Amino acid sequence: MVTEEKWDNRGQYSEKRIRLYEQIFGEGYISSGGHMTTEQLCFLLQNLTKDARVLEIGSGIGGAAFFLESQYGCVVTGVDLCENVCTIAEERTATKGSTVNFMLGDILNIDFPPKSFDVIMSRDTLLHLSETKKRKLFAKCIEWLDDNGEIIIGDYCRRPKSEPICEFFEAYVADRGYDLHEPFAYGKLLEDAGFKKVVSWDVSGDFLELLEAELQRFRKEHNPRPKHFEKENFEHTEKSWLQKIGWVRIGDMRKGVLYGRRG
Ligand SMILES: C[S@@+](CC[C@H](N)C(=O)[O-])C[C@H]1O[C@@H](n2cnc3c(N)ncnc32)[C@H](O)[C@@H]1O
Repeated sequence: MVTEEKWDNRGQYSEKRIRLYEQIFGEGYISSGGHMTTEQLCFLLQNLTKDARVLEIGSGIGGAAFFLESQYGCVVTGVDLCENVCTIAEERTATKGSTVNFMLGDILNIDFPPKSFDVIMSRDTLLHLSETKKRKLFAKCIEWLDDNGEIIIGDYCRRPKSEPICEFFEAYVADRGYDLHEPFAYGKLLEDAGFKKVVSWDVSGDFLELLEAELQRFRKEHNPRPKHFEKENFEHTEKSWLQKIGWVRIGDMRKGVLYGRRG
């Protein structure tokens, strides 16, 4: 395991928050849509065959990586900057008898030989990278992919940067340190890096339905609230889901899926 300084984005990925996220997103996930989103992204890929080499950028606690290995027989490498999530992913690797290689580190500080992967996947992770860093990463990704390699990204997005967003969403984005793009402008970053056959989808409608379903399930599962589950945690989660639902409804917050090929 490559080691790096401890980073949890000022508590966003503390151990407690990871466990809380997993309750709402589903086992193995700390990002929206949980397993359903993984299946949707996989559906768009052509290279997911046995022994396909997959890199997951921001692999979190391993939900997608384990699925790619068990469902398709892929050889998966996961990279994540946060030690808390890597530790959980590695514990589960041992329990599952998996061979996924989870590496701790900043994806921008790690290098792989050219043409090391057939697929690069990333979910709700590149929002942590500035536009300059995204461009730098995409240039590396194209090198890391084999000739017919594919990249698939799911990420939080926003309305076009030329249009204002409400002050609360603006404050949330600033507080988290996110860099968000409008989905089609995001796709342009892939094209600028040299990716071919780039397709961008604005999947905000599906995202809204997902958020509403996640909130409904969370409320149901916590009614009556289990004794071990603190009121503060319940209220924090409920409030943040209601906020996101509101921002998606007014079109400030969006969700994008981006696809590209090396050749
Ligand atoms: C919202 S979580 C999503 C995790 C996982 N993809 C999932 O769907 O459950 C974002 C992840 O990106 C990781 N991350 C953020 N910046 C990173 C970087 N520069 N290099 C590698 N991982 C990073 C975080 O540590 C976190 O685990």
